Amino acid sequence: IKNLFLVRHAESVYNVRDRIGGDSGLTDKGRNQAWALSRRFIGTPLPYIFTSTLRRTLEMAEPLLETRRGQTIHHAFSEFDEINVGECEGLSYADIERTRPELFAARSRNKYNFVYPGGEGYATMAGRVYRGVKKAIYLSGNSEYIMIIGHQAVNRMILSDFLFRRAEDVPYIFIPQDKYFHIVSTQSKKLFELRKY
Ligand code: G3H
Repeated sequence: IKNLFLVRHAESVYNVRDRIGGDSGLTDKGRNQAWALSRRFIGTPLPYIFTSTLRRTLEMAEPLLETRRGQTIHHAFSEFDEINVGECEGLSYADIERTRPELFAARSRNKYNFVYPGGEGYATMAGRVYRGVKKAIYLSGNSEYIMIIGHQAVNRMILSDFLFRRAEDVPYIFIPQDKYFHIVSTQSKKLFELRKY
């Protein structure tokens, strides 16, 4: 790939309720953001779009696929699903702090290596996310342009590979919901731009 457009799903129902996990769809604002993204890409070749299997990324891709009917192939990979928060599914961070203070403290101490009981952590999800990226590159026949629509933790993992961040900093990389990363990668250089849509 030469151009990777790395997008996070826009505002979801769980985002506004401050809940983690789940499979909520986009809010009205999120759907408008998805349309803004599709308008931003009019005129940009985009033969392949990869999403997770979760509703919020599928809904994010919908306007793009609708406006580019027949020109874009879409694959949904579970490798790009958001971090599995196990027993904390559907909770807010405040709930976790109140009901599982030991978990909350352990995660604050070492966010990268922390693993949610019955779920994943950044360290344990890294392998499947990178497998997803390899699969996407392979399936797209090494296309010059691909878009991945992922989630906060997933996009942090993907970005960290390009940004050469220390593992312990990865869970804190800023991944906004109204901007996307355009990563241009050539043999001699890698370029990053955070662009508004
Ligand atoms: O749990 C889902 C979030 O998108 C990941 O965010 O690792 O900063 O808690 P966090």
